[in-house]
Amino acid sequence: MTIDKQFIEQFISVTSKAALEASYLVGKNNKIAADQAAVDAMRTELNKINMTGEVVIGEGSLDEAPLLYTGEILGTKNGPNFDIAVDPVEGTNFVANNLPGGITVLAIGEKGNLFNAPETYMDKIATAKIDKGVVDLDNSLEKNIKNFSDFHNRDISTISVCILDRPRHKKIIDKLKELNVKIKLITDGDVLGALYVSDPKYDVDIFLGIGGGPEGVLAACALDAYNCHFQGRFIFDNEKDIKEANLMGIQDLNKKYEINEIVKGDSLFCATGITSNDILNGISIDNNTYVSETLITHKSSNYKKIVKLVNSIDE
Ligand code: FBP
Repeated sequence: MTIDKQFIEQFISVTSKAALEASYLVGKNNKIAADQAAVDAMRTELNKINMTGEVVIGEGSLDEAPLLYTGEILGTKNGPNFDIAVDPVEGTNFVANNLPGGITVLAIGEKGNLFNAPETYMDKIATAKIDKGVVDLDNSLEKNIKNFSDFHNRDISTISVCILDRPRHKKIIDKLKELNVKIKLITDGDVLGALYVSDPKYDVDIFLGIGGGPEGVLAACALDAYNCHFQGRFIFDNEKDIKEANLMGIQDLNKKYEINEIVKGDSLFCATGITSNDILNGISIDNNTYVSETLITHKSSNYKKIVKLVNSIDE
């Protein structure tokens, strides 16, 4: 079974509408309102699709989120069974402060095939396709960088690494400076950070570091379609997260997940720009028309494209 290609257009429409609604809140210094606008639009659009879609990564559990909560069933319930992962606004700070990098993100898998990620941090590493073991979460940082440079026969100083600028990454960043690699420090938005490895034109060879677990699953869906390398390891460092992991049936809290354990089978990924970024232009509005740009991947048909839509706002 695969996800039918006919769904591509419909899911692009979901993230485009969500991005449009969030775009009205760009620069309004209100992360919650921007997120809410995108959540509402996403849910309305998803409910129009002929599917039975279960939210496996959403806005939280039912008691935390009335809409797009984990376990919510969406769609007309008349069609195939899907797993749905959403991040209605990825980079809420960017949207609230009118900065580049706000996107709306959606991933679809066949039922039971998307990893139901806990709301914890995840240690991640991603590169374009590479031989097994060359770059690995179990290697030291130095070994990964050296292996990568040997594998590609490149000088270490030409290797570009993307990482979230956080105090928790101080040691890593210091080491990267010592190794003299090129560092791309991002202030937020590690779904895009990971996606940069999908194409040399973004000039990121290795994405690494600790970010949101759900964001890791979303990025893995796109990277899987690009045949990239991605590994993730959840971080359970407090009683609450450990309890939750146990309830979710996660036995080995230190397990390193390979991409094919995070997303199995076919998948579809859509990310639409709210504010412009290195990959996508943000929403632009002219009178009654809006233009959106969406990165779409559909694994089984090997479809990977940035789709520009021009739509009427009233549609
Ligand atoms: P939000 O859009 O939910 O604010 O997330 C932005 C983000 O930068 C993610 O891309 C990243 O995975 C996570 O926050 C990192 O978390 P933290 O800000 O706690 O380091």
